[in-house]
Amino acid sequence: MPVKILAIESSCDETAASVCVDGKILSNVIANQTVHAQYGGVVPELASRAHMQNIVPVVDAALKKASVSLKELNAIAFTKSPGLIGSLLVGSQFAKSLALSLDIPVIGVHHMQAHVLANLIDEPRPAFPFLCLTVSGGHTQIVQCKSPSDLVVIGETLDDAAGEAFDKSAKLLGLPYPGGPLIDTYAAKGVARFNFPEPQIPGLDFSFSGLKTAILYFIRDNEAKDKNFLQQNINDICASIQSRIVSILLNKLKRAADQTGIREICVAGGVSANSGLRSSLTGMGIREKWNTYIPAFQYCTDNAAMIAITGYFKFLNKEFDELDVRISARADF
Ligand code: KG4
Ligand code: ZN
Repeated sequence: MPVKILAIESSCDETAASVCVDGKILSNVIANQTVHAQYGGVVPELASRAHMQNIVPVVDAALKKASVSLKELNAIAFTKSPGLIGSLLVGSQFAKSLALSLDIPVIGVHHMQAHVLANLIDEPRPAFPFLCLTVSGGHTQIVQCKSPSDLVVIGETLDDAAGEAFDKSAKLLGLPYPGGPLIDTYAAKGVARFNFPEPQIPGLDFSFSGLKTAILYFIRDNEAKDKNFLQQNINDICASIQSRIVSILLNKLKRAADQTGIREICVAGGVSANSGLRSSLTGMGIREKWNTYIPAFQYCTDNAAMIAITGYFKFLNKEFDELDVRISARADF
């Protein structure tokens, strides 16, 4: 009998549902919340309310697209941590209620584990053990992955996440939230001719707070000399910021590969949609003789397909949860 799993992701500001059958993704539906843009960041209470409005139609669309009925489901996977507590609550309570009514098990999934395992959705898949650079709005990690259930964080950010570094830099440039994709767009038209500092952090950990301060002073000083400086140099400034964030990430990834001897290298998370990171990783992979893997765009940013594939591996391992499994804003794998 094929294993049919419904997965729900609601950790931040995307309401998403996916159906996977025997590890193959048949649907991946996402409702983005536009309500936050005017506030320059995600407003937790508004996110919870939007999840409540979106969850039924999103789950319904995911089941219909996959042509799978509720009665056929074998389990329901949902994001249990980390995330905004009110948002997690909507997805988890919905998943638990539906599972109870269908008399099938629930599988709580760690959002960061799911980002890593998004690399296992499509061919070509990395061989174990692999390293994954997970770069999202809330996290920056290098994860050593020996099996779907054996993941160890070997490096992480000491302050801002890579996505935050993009978004906060964009804010300093007067760009709307989330600024990461906009920096990417402007950077494509510019030259990285401004030199922002690379922090000297020992080991495999990252830091981005110094970059933010450097950008703040750089803009302040140059605008004092020429009030049109920012406007006239926006493409080159974005290219320079992007190039520095990418070099911070890839230098640590190279150090991790050298230290572990692992040459199967993946990226994951929303920032892996960044074109500068994608092309630099590909280039570094060729130079370093790595096999590099980048999930399809729709599996990089928050989505429920990654929850579904993780739920599938957990199902195979019989890693089910009780209905009283707790959600948590912060948690290790
Ligand atoms: O993984 P994700 O969708 O959500 C979280 O779990 O955080 O990541 C969202 C982050 C945001 O900070 C967004 O600005 C960034 O990913 N992002 C990008 C790009 N696309 C999304 N950053 C740089 N370039 C992009 N093309
Ligand atoms: Zn995420």
